[in-house]
Amino acid sequence: MSRDPHCPAGLKIRNLNISIPLALAPMVGLSHTAGRSLIQELGGVGMLYTEMLAAKRLPHENAEISPMLVKSPIEKPLIYQIFLADESLVEGAIVKLEALDADGVDVNLGCPAPQLRRSGSGGFLAEDRQLVARIIRKIRLSTEMALTAKIRLGQKLDQEKFIDFCKMLEYEGVDLITVHGRLHGEKFCRSPRWDWIGYAKKAVNIPVLANGGIFSVTDAKRCLEVSGADGLMIGRGAFENPWLFADIAVTLYGMENERQIRSREQLFYRYVELLEARFRPERRLGRLKQFIHYFARSFTFGHQLASSVQTSHNMEEAVGRVALFFTQTDPSELFFDPICV
Ligand SMILES: Cc1cc2nc3c(=O)[nH]c(=O)nc-3n(C[C@H](O)[C@H](O)[C@H](O)COP(=O)(O)O)c2cc1C
Repeated sequence: MSRDPHCPAGLKIRNLNISIPLALAPMVGLSHTAGRSLIQELGGVGMLYTEMLAAKRLPHENAEISPMLVKSPIEKPLIYQIFLADESLVEGAIVKLEALDADGVDVNLGCPAPQLRRSGSGGFLAEDRQLVARIIRKIRLSTEMALTAKIRLGQKLDQEKFIDFCKMLEYEGVDLITVHGRLHGEKFCRSPRWDWIGYAKKAVNIPVLANGGIFSVTDAKRCLEVSGADGLMIGRGAFENPWLFADIAVTLYGMENERQIRSREQLFYRYVELLEARFRPERRLGRLKQFIHYFARSFTFGHQLASSVQTSHNMEEAVGRVALFFTQTDPSELFFDPICV
């Protein structure tokens, strides 16, 4: 595995140089253009993933207006995550992603969401090792883009099977594997098994990102120590505390970061501004509700904030309620301590 000589922690993934080995996770309703831009503006993130996209629908989407495909030039490097269970969908999807100037393609092999069960994609596809191999091989033969895969630990703990699966992905041409350290279908209340991510790391020669349960710099440090992974992918933690990437990058990777946005209030209004700039009016409120679900968790009375937004009927009402919440909140809560460990 080659590394960037200017930043020893950086990763080289095929033709991509990742300066900081920290990735924003693919998350439906959150890792869209507004969410990605917000995180990118705060600094510390090395690569971004889109929400999962149906390979079947991709060729027919209009990138100018599709809320899933809209993006801004600062969102780089941007890896597009696809889900599929049919090799015949590969060609159309790859042609489209290349036309969109994607920096890479990720195959969703871990998501246990019920809507993926029907098509047999995501975590359900991972059960069919042969089909996964054929799909990955076909993608590899179709493109020079970086190819990554996101997996869980499997249906049940089986070290041999898990290692064999990771090796197969490497053999078929995957350039980086992200491992979410939970079994298929395991809920978030169960602690992720960071030690199992270490089995993947030891088994392959491509970079491995560890994912699951990272909410602080301390978690990041522990996860890297336990898993031995080359970097981290962070999902919910990034929206609970959008400065988390910057804090980890400063503390663990010696990056310099000067905060332009210093308070949670400023950050909220920046997010609203991004939603308004990137999405049509009817598409904004739902995305604000999903964001606030996580963002509110960092406030003592966050449940009140979340429910005031969840029960709003339009953006004006939601933003007004948040403004009122801020006036009633202890000012010390509005400023995020630099480096909260
Ligand atoms: C709201 C939500 C949406 C998600 N959407 C996706 C997705 O589109 N693709 C995917 O591979 N994983 C998806 N995930 C899983 C995350 O990428 C990540 O693996 C998981 O949240 C564990 O990481 P975390 O503890 O840092 O959040 C989603 C998770 C959540 C909470």
